[in-house]
Amino acid sequence: MPPAGSPPRRYNRIVPKILVTGGAGYIGSLTTYQLLQRGFEVVVVDDLSRGHRHNVPPDLLRVVHLQETAALAPLLIGVDAVVHFAAFIAVGESAREPELYFSNNVGGTISLLAAMARAGVKRLVFSSTAAVYGNPETIPIPEDAPLAPVSPYGESKLIVERMLKQLDEFRGLRSVALRYFNACGAMPEAGFGEQHDPETHLIPLLFRAIDTGEPIKIFGNDYPTPDGTCVRDYIHVSDLAEAHLAALDYLMNGGKSDVFNAGAGRGQTVMEVMRAVEEVTGRKVPYVIAPRREGDAAELVADSGKLRRVLGWKPVRSELGRIVKDAWEFFQSARAGASRP
Ligand SMILES: NC(=O)c1ccc[n+]([C@@H]2O[C@H](COP(=O)([O-])OP(=O)(O)OC[C@H]3O[C@@H](n4cnc5c(N)ncnc54)[C@H](O)[C@@H]3O)[C@@H](O)[C@H]2O)c1
Repeated sequence: MPPAGSPPRRYNRIVPKILVTGGAGYIGSLTTYQLLQRGFEVVVVDDLSRGHRHNVPPDLLRVVHLQETAALAPLLIGVDAVVHFAAFIAVGESAREPELYFSNNVGGTISLLAAMARAGVKRLVFSSTAAVYGNPETIPIPEDAPLAPVSPYGESKLIVERMLKQLDEFRGLRSVALRYFNACGAMPEAGFGEQHDPETHLIPLLFRAIDTGEPIKIFGNDYPTPDGTCVRDYIHVSDLAEAHLAALDYLMNGGKSDVFNAGAGRGQTVMEVMRAVEEVTGRKVPYVIAPRREGDAAELVADSGKLRRVLGWKPVRSELGRIVKDAWEFFQSARAGASRP
């Protein structure tokens, strides 16, 4: 018994509990791994529509669709913050099936927010995207650049960002939206990497072209860029996961709602990435030049100064050679695993 008159004992929970949606996917699984490494308690919600069961320790995974609000609510009890990755992510598919994207990405988030409100969870880190900028006029792109998405995918993310602003005001929900540029690379030493189906991302598609001999299509070589191909900002997925940890730290310490670009802050052309792949693999990439794709911006490079300044984030693995080396190592081990009986 504490002596009479002494202040009440405080039972602060030392280990924050985080609910990760979409934690069976590419970025979510790696972030879950880094959260666990850092000692957080984690529960993962994923419906496995696009993710992989093997990406999550079985005892942490709850197979739930985001729109099952009633099933989400009990999972949120005692949760300190949510990291919300779950969404459909393919720009081209969103143009063919806009309703699917609004239903899953916006509808799913509304359901999650309702369940969070019911459980009194007041912190959220949200996966937004550079696609909210559309075809930006200023490079590198600052967070206050005009928001003008050119795809249902980008629009679905912008709608959620706007909802979060209102929920800050009317529900006291504190959120950080991270606008990712091109997430890439892998953590082969821990068994995590990119396995989208269908795959739409450049580096795994370059590997696949090497593997199958089927030429990869390069969409446009007449852009106003150094070699005519599109310029993108490639951020290593492990550095991106770290940005989520920094955002959580910020929110747990009373940070106000905000939006941050999450990119390495430098651009590379498609041809530069291809040359890096050829260097790392020692193989030639077969390719053909195809017409430009509608909606592809010539250049998307983040001004990542705010992420560095406010959240104290610094990329450590986002050098292109390292990204490609990690991704290639993972690609080879995944291929070997797939061909094992
Ligand atoms: N990969 C990138 O370069 C990139 C760039 C910008 C933004 N993002 C955003 O990052 C997030 C994660 O991307 P990723 O590359 O890891 O994608 P991913 O497809 O690998 O992972 C998404 C996960 O969410 C799950 N999911 C989808 N809808 C769900 C639902 N309604 N209920 C429950 N689970 C659901 C899927 O099963 C999957 O495991 C997405 O929100 C995406 O929009 C990704």
